[in-house]
Amino acid sequence: MKALILSGGSGTRLRPITFSSPKQLLPIANKPIIFYLIEKIANAGIRDIGIIVGDTSDEIMAAIGNGQKWNVNITYIHQSYPLGLAHAVKTAQDFIENSKFIMLLGDNLFSMELGPIIQNFDSSSFNSSLLLHKLEDPSGFGVAEVKNKKIVRLLEKPANYVSNLIITGVYLFDKNIFPAIDQITPSKRGELEITDAIQSMLENGKNISFEITEGWWKDTGTLKDLLKANELVLSGPVKHEAVIKNNVIENSTISNYVIIGKNCRLLNSYIGPYTSIGDNTFINNCSIENSILLEGSRLKDIKGKISSSLIGKNSRITGLKKQSPDISFFVGDNTEIYL
Ligand code: DAU
Repeated sequence: MKALILSGGSGTRLRPITFSSPKQLLPIANKPIIFYLIEKIANAGIRDIGIIVGDTSDEIMAAIGNGQKWNVNITYIHQSYPLGLAHAVKTAQDFIENSKFIMLLGDNLFSMELGPIIQNFDSSSFNSSLLLHKLEDPSGFGVAEVKNKKIVRLLEKPANYVSNLIITGVYLFDKNIFPAIDQITPSKRGELEITDAIQSMLENGKNISFEITEGWWKDTGTLKDLLKANELVLSGPVKHEAVIKNNVIENSTISNYVIIGKNCRLLNSYIGPYTSIGDNTFINNCSIENSILLEGSRLKDIKGKISSSLIGKNSRITGLKKQSPDISFFVGDNTEIYL
């Protein structure tokens, strides 16, 4: 088995932060999203990982390197333009060869381990297996229609309700996915959809199985989802604590479910639950909760409580004399704001 992670694309829904950082590198509990995926693949015993990269290849390659850190071999595969998930898979054909493989979308996060579904697929005769997740509001996702415990139809972001089982970013394939991709044409959004390629496999009599997620699953494509993923990881079984070493924390209250990076100075402040504070951050005279602060940000003298916010790298928010109550920010990197 090999693994493929899709980390191309443009991340338009997360602008402005994705102008300067690829969405797959945004930190959740101070760790880039894509690192969680590499860890899960490595934990499942797969050593050969291909990563699809696009415009942001330099940043992604610099952050991940050759995979030594996780004891895996990373091969970077350049996709000329984000022409769709199926196009990305086709681009990876030389890397995959005839292996079975697991494919993960680089902006998805989930709690379950991958070992069992990989083993089930590897020892089966199925041509593909999908991880599905029940969602009250499935709009904006690919969905699977299931009858008598079998997938009967797959649709990419249908306009009308079809099913509450959405297709997560966890796919298992054998080599039959490649001829299926050759059969499809671009969708309304101009992309070669992997959902259409799997539907084409179904129509050609291939066997597709599915499993339902255990635990939580999140597409981190919007600020709201990113903050929710941060909350889920911080309140999960791994205990995250302030790295007290090299930090100066004075006259401040730090609640549970908070992570604080290295070389931070927190003075006269309240850091509430579900907050991730990156390295080299300075916070003085502020209250903040349910937020993500990237490295090097500086917050000073803000009267209202900051919540549900993401503050980009090296950004500076300073309160002046007259200010309004509670506030929220979605601030890109290298920004300055005076309130
Ligand atoms: O999150 C689950 C959903 O992901 C599924 O329910 C949909 O069926 C599936 O099409 C996909 O939809 P999105 O519109 O959310 O995909 P997105 O454009 O966000 O791309 C997902 C990842 O793949 C992201 O890390 C960027 C990468 N990508 C995307 C494209 C279009 C590539 O590497 N190359 C590409 O050409």
